[in-house]
Amino acid sequence: MPLSELVEVDNTFKDRMEIRRSILNDHPEATKQCNKVAEAAVLEHYDWMVSTYLPRRFPTIYKPTSTAAGPQLYNCVSKTSIPIRPASPMAALDALGEHVDTDFLILLPSSTAVDGSPIYHLEAFVTCFPAGFSTREKCGNPLAAIHKPVPGYEAKLEKSMDRFFAKLEVGRGVKRANWSISTNDKLYSEGGNHMYAEDEKVDKPVENAKTLDVNSPNLDEDVERQKREVVVEDCRLRCERQTLHRLPKTKALVFSFKTYMYKLSEVKAEGSGPELAAAIDGLAQGSVPAIAFYKRGVVWGAKVKEYLLS
Ligand code: HEM
Repeated sequence: MPLSELVEVDNTFKDRMEIRRSILNDHPEATKQCNKVAEAAVLEHYDWMVSTYLPRRFPTIYKPTSTAAGPQLYNCVSKTSIPIRPASPMAALDALGEHVDTDFLILLPSSTAVDGSPIYHLEAFVTCFPAGFSTREKCGNPLAAIHKPVPGYEAKLEKSMDRFFAKLEVGRGVKRANWSISTNDKLYSEGGNHMYAEDEKVDKPVENAKTLDVNSPNLDEDVERQKREVVVEDCRLRCERQTLHRLPKTKALVFSFKTYMYKLSEVKAEGSGPELAAAIDGLAQGSVPAIAFYKRGVVWGAKVKEYLLS
């Protein structure tokens, strides 16, 4: 991915900024954190964003100005100012969190594998739209622990990802996308979007009535009850556009994601119903069938597919 494509702006920008501000206010601790070791990286990322990237990439939205309070970046959509020199790394995260519709996570090589290669840990973040996990509980952890609940991660992804993260060069950007179905339209969600198998429970996020306990003697009944509770009109296709790049000075990695949510009626209207229904079937047929369980497909799959194909 060319680095110029790091951030995408669309016609939801104004609404999203308002939602982000209110989530930051309602959950000041859950949405951001900066461990001491990551302060320089947060400031490096922030400085590049506000001094270079945002005003050059989106000159009609972000305009540099000078005020009595010092240099500012004026956000022409919200008609508010962003400080070029933030009071602290946390203030920098708070400003980024509000003014850019993208969540940012900073990773550093905080530990080393037995063969001497670096292991990346999450050390700072601003995330307004976690898709069913607590970023705060993940902070400080290495990638392997962060992904503990993801079926197949250890077997299929861990080694290659650690290698990939260690090798990613300054100036290169990469992107991937994911998708799932959520049974509500909440952008901020610390729990309930995933189901965890017993040995994947270590990082289980905040309990939520909709998170199934796979050890429950009544598991089948619980699944049936949750299936009945699915209201197809409330379901959303939830996708994240994720990117990764390395900062030139601190060499920290910046992982970012922008969250998209679509009503199933929108998916259908654009003619993609059969394709999404096939992708839902594909969850249990891929190289890691347990992903269907992790994404709660056993709960929402049948009703969503029926709607998409009707
Ligand atoms: C670019 C390389 C990465 C790959 C290939 C990857 C892969 C995955 C996969 C397959 C999942 C399952 C859901 C999905 O399909 O997205 C997942 C979940 C997740 N990933 Fe990643 N990931 C990457 C980078 C990261 C980074 C850098 C972080 C954060 C520092 C991160 C944090 C998470 C979290 C928090 C979850 C949810 C885990 C849970 O349910 O508790 N990922 N990742």
